[in-house]
Amino acid sequence: MNYFIETIGCQMNMCESDKLGLALSTYGVSKVNILQEANIVILNTCSIRAQSEQKAFSFLGRAEEFKQDNPNTKIIVMGCMAERIGFEIKRRFKSVDLIIVSKDIDNAVFKIADLCNLYNYNYSFNKIEDFPNIIRYVTIMRGCDNYCSYCVVPFVRGREISLNDLDILEESSLLVKKGAKEIMLLGQNVNSYRYKDFNFISLIKNIATINDLERIRFMTNHPKDLSDELIGMMATESKVCSHIHLPMQSASNKILKAMNRKYSYGHYIDLVKKLRMAIPDISITTDIIVGFPGETKEDFEETFKAVKEIRFGGLYVFRYSPRPNTKAANMPDSVSLEEKKRRHRLILEESNKISVEIAASMVGSTQQVLAEKIENGIIEARTRGGRKVFVKCSNEKDLGRHLNVTIKEAKINSLFGNII
Ligand code: 5AD
Ligand code: SF4
Repeated sequence: MNYFIETIGCQMNMCESDKLGLALSTYGVSKVNILQEANIVILNTCSIRAQSEQKAFSFLGRAEEFKQDNPNTKIIVMGCMAERIGFEIKRRFKSVDLIIVSKDIDNAVFKIADLCNLYNYNYSFNKIEDFPNIIRYVTIMRGCDNYCSYCVVPFVRGREISLNDLDILEESSLLVKKGAKEIMLLGQNVNSYRYKDFNFISLIKNIATINDLERIRFMTNHPKDLSDELIGMMATESKVCSHIHLPMQSASNKILKAMNRKYSYGHYIDLVKKLRMAIPDISITTDIIVGFPGETKEDFEETFKAVKEIRFGGLYVFRYSPRPNTKAANMPDSVSLEEKKRRHRLILEESNKISVEIAASMVGSTQQVLAEKIENGIIEARTRGGRKVFVKCSNEKDLGRHLNVTIKEAKINSLFGNII
């Protein structure tokens, strides 16, 4: 038996797909990269924008077509859409065999095993020897309580829950034992992590004690909850990378208020300054939404100006998309599609320009990089700030190692260097 898994959406979904893959491998089910080679087809869905849901529907169309000629194929849908519109999916796609909702995610493998009559000859996470990934994701929180007015996450993922710190530590240690060198901690708002007496800072300090773990990253942060104490810890804890993803969404105070983000642009700028003061080489990345209801040309100008001034290390920009149940869905979607596209393009062009300039300014510098992959004699690595660096490989054993590299050439999203 083998499975194909299509993952749409955020790192949280990647993490859950990865975990399910690991669990399936203990049943002797192996992964294939082509849908047409699979007996079990799994779709992990995302509801964040209408476009993400469209992608899932077109994938299901393809899977259904394949199943017509291969009726023994099982089709399984999990993730946010399973939660939000599981019934509708079942109604539209009769070929779907199983819908797994978020609360059942920990039992997903058992449900699939039941459906496909899989026999678990070796169910122990400890015994898995493959998956030698250098970077591994660990979920530390589920759900979200913030109710940003545009966002569907609180409705599909439910209330915010912090997971047990000991479980997180154990899972991270195990992944490091299996070869991981970098752990990325995941939650919708990791800054509000709290389990009994443990807050996010104590959690990171504990994870940093794992021998052989080289790097820790985390996402996503919320500007309203990012504390001075966390910034201080990032500056002093050497395993924590010089990177923070800090979604700004907009720089107009009027729009931030309508988004229910609970901070002003002034507060955001203060955080940027504090971060840069404490961690001079930090790369700050962000998310921006253009065309939110009521966003005038002036509001957009403020965001555009902020992008120019802050000089993010990278950013994701999204056209606002009304989502069911959210507060913003009741506000008139006032910006035309054409204007949303224009604003989207302007932000993207500016941020690409800045990204190229930042990359060019790194030429000649020495960077500590972590070798994540080796393919065809080329090492794919990443700087502490998160930029991709390609380096000629002279030793296969460099995989998973920290290397010091001189940057020789720069392109938009990648750098090229030589090992010192
Ligand atoms: N429309 C557009 N973008 C959205 N995001 C979340 N909800 C929406 C929406 N309804 C963006 C935000 C968030 C990122 C993960 O997706 O920028 O930070
Ligand atoms: Fe959505 Fe806001 Fe929660 Fe992020 S913090 S998941 S944008 S509600």
